[in-house]
Amino acid sequence: MSTVENQTAHEAGELEAIMLVGGQGTRLRPLTIGVPKPLLPTAGVPFLAHQLARAAQAGVTRIIMATAYRAEMFAEVFGDGTGFGLEIVYVHETEPLGTGGGIRNAAASLRSGPDEPVVVLNGDILSGHDLSAQLDLHRKTDAAVTLHLVEVPDPARFGCVPTDFDGRVTAFLEKTPNPVTNQINAGCYVFTRRYIDAMPAGQVLSVERNTFPDLIAAGETIMGFVESAYWLDVGTPEAYVRGSCDLVLGELSSPAVPGATGSSLLLPGASADPSATLCGGTVLGSGSSVGAGAMVDGSVIFDGVRIGAGAQVTASVIGSGAKVGDGAILDGVVIGTGADIAGGNELRHGLRVWPGVTLPGTAVRFSTDA
Ligand code: GTP
Repeated sequence: MSTVENQTAHEAGELEAIMLVGGQGTRLRPLTIGVPKPLLPTAGVPFLAHQLARAAQAGVTRIIMATAYRAEMFAEVFGDGTGFGLEIVYVHETEPLGTGGGIRNAAASLRSGPDEPVVVLNGDILSGHDLSAQLDLHRKTDAAVTLHLVEVPDPARFGCVPTDFDGRVTAFLEKTPNPVTNQINAGCYVFTRRYIDAMPAGQVLSVERNTFPDLIAAGETIMGFVESAYWLDVGTPEAYVRGSCDLVLGELSSPAVPGATGSSLLLPGASADPSATLCGGTVLGSGSSVGAGAMVDGSVIFDGVRIGAGAQVTASVIGSGAKVGDGAILDGVVIGTGADIAGGNELRHGLRVWPGVTLPGTAVRFSTDA
């Protein structure tokens, strides 16, 4: 039996994970201009809080947070992880190293032994999949890496990941109009530690374009763990809003949601006129208010927002301190921090209003619709 000093992480009851949070989140601009995607308020707490709480529930004990963009903000929010029953350590890339490079860069902080499993999580995924079952498959097959794969109805939008009859991944295929499978990479990997150490250090690497194809070419086993529980990549505004609403509605359970699940969540200090309707999993941030007869459906309203009487807000994100005038109609839009949308405006699908912008009070109809 090993001495305490010689114990590997697993003998000591540890399960380590690397959390990739270094991306710039360009698809979520302007929301991510000042705040990294994993810290955006989601069902009342920073997005990553849901992942951390679920990881802890699944037995992860120690997280290496692989940061690059706005690195310092993560430690300010999550500290040493005690609040989640986790130990969190932070590593920083001075230049973003990509997903593969970020994993390799975090290796120096791991305590797991060379043959022990290390979980890697993309920091922008909401997933209800069974991580313990993924770990079991990894151990049973002695794979180099075991990937969570999900089946999607529209695989042409993604790169796809075919597997053989034994569940081994055979290739990583770029986006194509005629994908050979509807399985895609779901952004949660179990690596056997030594395969992380074997990756080239100090260079930009993508797991999908470099690491995984190289392992397959070298004859190593990459297993696919196909599971169809709740899964969402919150990389776009539509998906981010959907994810927040699903958490509020209880479509995916998360111990980090600060309140009971239901049709809406009002954070402390938020208020809505009794004649207003809040539904569809809407979150109303601290100090925000909704006026008489207004309707806010399936939206994320940050802190200190004022929504005027009779306004209609659907499937939208409204940044902190923004104002939405009486009777304005917002559908599927992103309103940046402190923007001021006067009453009478009608903003529709895909529109993004930059922080601080004022849209004047004359009735204007903006839309990206044809
Ligand atoms: P977009 O710019 O909108 O594509 O978002 P993104 O920058 O987050 O990229 P993507 O969605 O492809 O990233 C997947 C995950 O990897 C996210 O959790 C990112 O935070 C993370 N990530 C992406 N690039 C890096 C990097 O260079 N270093 C680290 N440590 N993490 C990264």
